[in-house]
Amino acid sequence: MIVLPVLPVLPVFFALAIPFVSAQSNDTAVQIEAIEAHFTQAALVPELLTTFDPSSILTINFDGVGDLSPGQALTQDQVAPTPTIKITIANSSVDLSGNFTLAMVDADVVGADESNVTRHWLENSVTISNGQVSNSSATDITSYAGPAPASGSGPHRYVIILYQQPSTFNPPSDFSQPNIGVSQFDLNSYVKDSQLGPVVAANYFTVEVGTSTMSISATSAVQSSTLASVSGTTASETAAASGTSSTNNAAQVSNVGFGTLLFSIVVALT
Ligand SMILES: *[C@@H]1O[C@H](CO)[C@@H](O)[C@H](O)[C@H]1NC(C)=O
Ligand SMILES: *[C@@H]1O[C@H](CO)[C@@H](O)[C@H](O)[C@H]1NC(C)=O
Ligand SMILES: *[C@@H]1O[C@H](CO)[C@@H](O)[C@H](O)[C@H]1NC(C)=O
Ligand SMILES: *[C@@H]1O[C@H](CO)[C@@H](O)[C@H](O)[C@H]1NC(C)=O
Ligand SMILES: *[C@@H]1O[C@H](CO)[C@@H](O)[C@H](O)[C@H]1NC(C)=O
Repeated sequence: MIVLPVLPVLPVFFALAIPFVSAQSNDTAVQIEAIEAHFTQAALVPELLTTFDPSSILTINFDGVGDLSPGQALTQDQVAPTPTIKITIANSSVDLSGNFTLAMVDADVVGADESNVTRHWLENSVTISNGQVSNSSATDITSYAGPAPASGSGPHRYVIILYQQPSTFNPPSDFSQPNIGVSQFDLNSYVKDSQLGPVVAANYFTVEVGTSTMSISATSAVQSSTLASVSGTTASETAAASGTSSTNNAAQVSNVGFGTLLFSIVVALT
């Protein structure tokens, strides 16, 4: 993130300056850069997804809540119903015909071991119809199961990922039938063994129950709950700097500010 070339950096920080960018902006290219930055800062990349280069925006909508912003904190009650998923293509050359697999996993708190994650939803052969994920001809391997993180275990990150499902798709036998309950699994092995991919789009939200009693490790420097304040401060530095400097200088100032902020948080927590 911090070592990105100068030019793409500015739109990312301007985008993050608006915490609820995905619900408010219709500039899909900016939103894609923003979601990539969110996934890196929330330590979902490279810990859960080794790379993340989405061609579309995935918008999660819960009844009674509306369209979520990346990493939005919600209560267990708010995320109990099955959400609807909207897909917005980056541009008209992105083709969303054919089949896709939709997965939701609990990536636990920042710093968790992501080699096994809890599967909360797994639908094979979903399609995109009028910009919405449709399950009308899908195989419901694991029906949506609302998050229920252990009380005091911290803010869990629930990640919803849409994968391309090519005609060579061939799931392992233990995931080829519907009605498999929630369990731990190795998402990346499943994706590889089934010949799924690439990732088309992804997004996440967080749910915390009770107050965390865990000691916070240094890797929590990029805890998603700190994103809004970190990016907000960085963006105001960027805005202030751009009033008096060239664009390049402004971007460099924002980079320094961002690195320093992360560093201060690490120091504060250790
Ligand atoms: C965003 O929406 C506004 C109002 O609907 C429209 O004028 C504008 O062209 C849109 N921008 C993009 C990049 O789609
Ligand atoms: C359209 O979006 C895709 C996916 O983000 C990107 O690879 C491609 O370069 C874009 N094409 C144009 C013409 O912008
Ligand atoms: C992941 O979970 C499965 C099922 O509980 C278990 O069999 C496997 O050993 C676990 N793998 C790792 C790397 O923890
Ligand atoms: C589609 O999803 C809805 C809402 O979760 C569910 O009630 C329905 O059974 C699903 N249909 C199929 C074919 O999976
Ligand atoms: C999409 O999935 C359906 C249902 O599993 C299957 O019948 C169809 O052949 C698949 N299409 C492609 C292009 O893979």
